[in-house]
Amino acid sequence: MAYYFEEPSHTFGEYLLVPGYTSADCIPQNVSLKTPVVKFKKGEEPSLTMNIPLVSAVMQSVSDDKLAIALAKEGGISFIYGSQTIQDQAAMVARVKGHKAGFVTSDSNVRPDATLQDVVSLKEKTGHSTVAVTEDGTPNGKLKGIITSRDFRIGFADMNAKVSEYMTPFNELITGKDGITLSEANELIWKHKLNSLPIIDGNSNLKYMVFRKDYASHEEHPLELLDKQHRYIVGAGINTRDYMERVPALLEAGVDIMTLDSSEGFTEWQRRALHDIHAKWPNAKVGAGNVVDRDGFMFLAEAGADFVKIGIGGGSICITREQKGIGRGQATATIEVAKARDEYFAKTGVYVPICSDGGIVHDYHMTLALAMGADFVMLGRYFARFDESPTNKLIVNGNYVKEYWGEGSNRARNWQRYDMGGASKLSFEEGVDSYVPYAGSLHDNVTMSMSKIRHTMCNCGAVTIPELQQKAKLTLVSQASINEGSAHDVIVKNTTLHS
Ligand code: IMP
Repeated sequence: MAYYFEEPSHTFGEYLLVPGYTSADCIPQNVSLKTPVVKFKKGEEPSLTMNIPLVSAVMQSVSDDKLAIALAKEGGISFIYGSQTIQDQAAMVARVKGHKAGFVTSDSNVRPDATLQDVVSLKEKTGHSTVAVTEDGTPNGKLKGIITSRDFRIGFADMNAKVSEYMTPFNELITGKDGITLSEANELIWKHKLNSLPIIDGNSNLKYMVFRKDYASHEEHPLELLDKQHRYIVGAGINTRDYMERVPALLEAGVDIMTLDSSEGFTEWQRRALHDIHAKWPNAKVGAGNVVDRDGFMFLAEAGADFVKIGIGGGSICITREQKGIGRGQATATIEVAKARDEYFAKTGVYVPICSDGGIVHDYHMTLALAMGADFVMLGRYFARFDESPTNKLIVNGNYVKEYWGEGSNRARNWQRYDMGGASKLSFEEGVDSYVPYAGSLHDNVTMSMSKIRHTMCNCGAVTIPELQQKAKLTLVSQASINEGSAHDVIVKNTTLHS
């Protein structure tokens, strides 16, 4: 006979947190949102942590290199979408890793024999007024000088004159040596009143540029997530088919963490992929999923997953439940998998972080997911609304919107994510193509969401996520209480779109 779960499954909107005691030092400024990303043994430190508990979804309409840099600046991780060629995905990862916080690979370069007109045209193209002059005009060529728009006056100078006549030559430049820290570079910038500082190696090849304005941006992002070489941390989605080719390319590009991206991960395909990847590249970190119950979690934990992703059918663009009748309420799934994670930890001494993926509508849903045991949450719709997401911004019916489509939609054509193996190709959609309200910059929105989480944690008397998980008191609410929870019995004056 089939197995029946005794309780109906619930989603986040059906729960609330009941406040606990708040001590005097339990204030938002004291809250740490640091959280583990990969498994670790009891008493040891995880090799990868995040400073905020957010990752962006493995989706074409969400996670490219631009969003990855913006999210790493805030302390989270993007998983660059895998539904593209191996070369294109690896190139995106390489671009994130090349974008060393504060140290940028120079993208405006000319040769000394280029003309002033070439410099002007380059400026129009890139928007940058500082141009590196390298022997061969490449970003890492031998540095010969720097030319900026202040070195010549358009309308007065002969635009056919050579750059070498107007540039500040190498022997008059202040430069930094490769390996210098950002604070040391900043010291030089201030001491010599520079706008930019070229960083060179022992052979005077240009490695990076450090700009005065970027240092200010660095100061604005105290939680930014960097590797040992001060590069942004980045993730990538992989599949159970071409991993033997995709994984080495991503590792070569510098990826920090990967995840098997599938709508349903309790499969032999994921077990084999985890086994093969870890056997060939023992240091590679790979999450797996998605699962929605204890059995699924135990299977992937045993198979060696570095973290496990939870969620089937809860995504905003997802129609899997309608199409196939599989899935589970996201809150119930998270609660059950969190119990399994704790059981596995008690039994083996290995803590396997879990990620609640999909179905986050309001900011407080993130706090609920964490309180229910998630170590971090994965979001698609949330990030798709921001300037940094890869899709078009349009006006629809007078409102600014951004495009957002599912990986299982006709538009993404990522059929392998939904493929259950065998020769036949899937021919039905599991996702839709949609618009989401445009919401501005990632920085502003993430700052606000994290502030709300910190405040709610203080209401629960917690200054860390593990403490929240221990202390949280959760209650299911009736439909009448849900209605009571938003403005009611008044005529609301101003309505704005809330996240
Ligand atoms: P959201 O944050 O509610 O928009 O959900 C994002 C999550 O939905 C992703 O991380 C995936 O797990 C899932 N997802 C992405 N594309 C599809 C699809 O086309 N169908 C079903 N689920 C999808």
